[in-house]
Amino acid sequence: MRHQLYPVFFLTVLLLSGCKSLQVLDTKGPVAKLQENLILLSTGIMLLVFIIVFSMFVIFTWKYRETPQRRDIIPSYVKGNKKLEIAWTVIPIVLLLILAVPTVQGTFSLADSQKEQDGKMEITVTGHQYWWEFEYNDQGVTLSNEVWIPVDTPVVFNLKSDDVIHSFWVPRLGGKKDLNPGGTNRLTLHASETGVYEGKCAELCGASHSLMRFKVHAVSKERYDQWISEKAEGTARETAASDSYEKGKKLFTSNCLSCHAADYTDKSEGPNLAGIGRKEMIASVVPNNEQNMKKWIEDPKSFKPGAEMPGFKELSDEELEALSNYLSQLE
Ligand code: CUA
Repeated sequence: MRHQLYPVFFLTVLLLSGCKSLQVLDTKGPVAKLQENLILLSTGIMLLVFIIVFSMFVIFTWKYRETPQRRDIIPSYVKGNKKLEIAWTVIPIVLLLILAVPTVQGTFSLADSQKEQDGKMEITVTGHQYWWEFEYNDQGVTLSNEVWIPVDTPVVFNLKSDDVIHSFWVPRLGGKKDLNPGGTNRLTLHASETGVYEGKCAELCGASHSLMRFKVHAVSKERYDQWISEKAEGTARETAASDSYEKGKKLFTSNCLSCHAADYTDKSEGPNLAGIGRKEMIASVVPNNEQNMKKWIEDPKSFKPGAEMPGFKELSDEELEALSNYLSQLE
């Protein structure tokens, strides 16, 4: 490819790829709405300046180009032009004021709203390479790679890290905030509509950084109360006990339980697998079906490079099937 085409190529890639699932400019909460308005305002002003300056550039380059008639003309020397000088001093000042006033106002109002913690619902978020842990401290419920919140309720996320720096980002609900080892950052978010919102790690944290995703389920207050009390009761409901299921359960107990929990009220070093049966994705990276579950257990690093989970290559196909069957029923 010729060098001149590189910018075009990269721009095309940028425009065609990636951002669809994150939908930064389709906000569903007051924090994100304020930020979206600021982004649109500044982009609007930049576009205005760009269009005017670039049009003038094109017009003047064409209008005063060299022609055979003008070849020998030397333009007169102009020194100082008060009107023009005032114009190009005042216009940028006005533009900067239009940009600065709402930005500073918005930043302070967001900072204030983040300070008020009292009485708000709190969820502890811990970033791990490469998964998310969500703890409802009052109810003793732990989830991995998903979090449920009630709509129209400000929720305080207490952000921590177990290893390196990660960054918590749910674009449709609000901006990013880092999770630092050895400290706690707070971020208050607020969903104004029910729905499932994609979240992502926004700080390069290792080989599988881009695969560190989670989902925020915003549900009605009634649904949330029902949901959390159900989970706080403990059992990740287990249904139809077949032979394969029982076998899977045994295999799970002997192989997996040292790192994973299978119950919402249990704590574990690795991701809590309660609810894995109803999830769309395994570890937020591959569609949740039997085939992929077996492959994941055999060799998780083929999906998520650098993940801490070891592969279980020694398990037979029948054993993998039993484990997968057991896991698919953890709801
Ligand atoms: Cu965690 Cu990137």
